[in-house]
Amino acid sequence: MGQSVVGFVLCGLVTKISVNSVDQGQLVGLRAPNNPNPVVNVNDPNMACGQPGYRSNVIINVKAGDKIGAFWGHAIGGAQWPGDPAEYIDRSHKGPIMNYMAKVDNAATSSAAGLKWFKVSEESFHAGQKRWAVDDMVANKGWSYTTIPTCVAPGQYLLRVELLALHSAYGNMGAQFYQSCAQLNVSSSGTLVPTQTVSIPGLYQQNDPSILIQIWVNGKDDNGGRPYKAPGPTPMTC
Ligand SMILES: *[C@@H]1O[C@H](CO)[C@@H](O)[C@H](O)[C@H]1NC(C)=O
Repeated sequence: MGQSVVGFVLCGLVTKISVNSVDQGQLVGLRAPNNPNPVVNVNDPNMACGQPGYRSNVIINVKAGDKIGAFWGHAIGGAQWPGDPAEYIDRSHKGPIMNYMAKVDNAATSSAAGLKWFKVSEESFHAGQKRWAVDDMVANKGWSYTTIPTCVAPGQYLLRVELLALHSAYGNMGAQFYQSCAQLNVSSSGTLVPTQTVSIPGLYQQNDPSILIQIWVNGKDDNGGRPYKAPGPTPMTC
């Protein structure tokens, strides 16, 4: 697995959720790992909701169209010391941030295995400004955002937030995947249950050019200013 040059892994995880900017509290409504280490095998069942760890018994009530924030921390509780350079994630961890949803019977108890996931949004790389989604998350003081599509049917869902760190992605299993799942109860006047869905694991291949990629060009992790496409399907539209 990818190691930072100082000999230990500096990474992060989603530690809380906001709904229309209202912070829901640490680990409330979340399935999150209890360590800040990534999943590196695209066929690992933990690709769905991250490594086992914390699991809230709370389901967060939201409405279609709500803006959902995910707060990234170096570890549970955030910075590990004042000025921690790896808060909100180590700055080396450049890459896209993606959001998927899957309908479930019970967002608190349903297994994350065997679900039908659809991608709701993604932010990849702004090639012109050489700015990764992770850079924007850090600029947003640790928050990444997505919106619950207005057309989805009401009911319970897992919202899977995924950050793909590409700093070591030039080697086999060097790409680092960080996931957590939020447990949501969506009220909506929509009716759509997307039929174009993917299985997780199963949606990614290790040799996908978005996953096995050298983003370091001339000593800079800016992909040489070339366009970059996040892996997985195109986000759904209403
Ligand atoms: C989900 O939301 C609906 C509509 O607001 C509500 O009737 C239902 O009780 C909620 N379910 C849970 C588990 O909170």
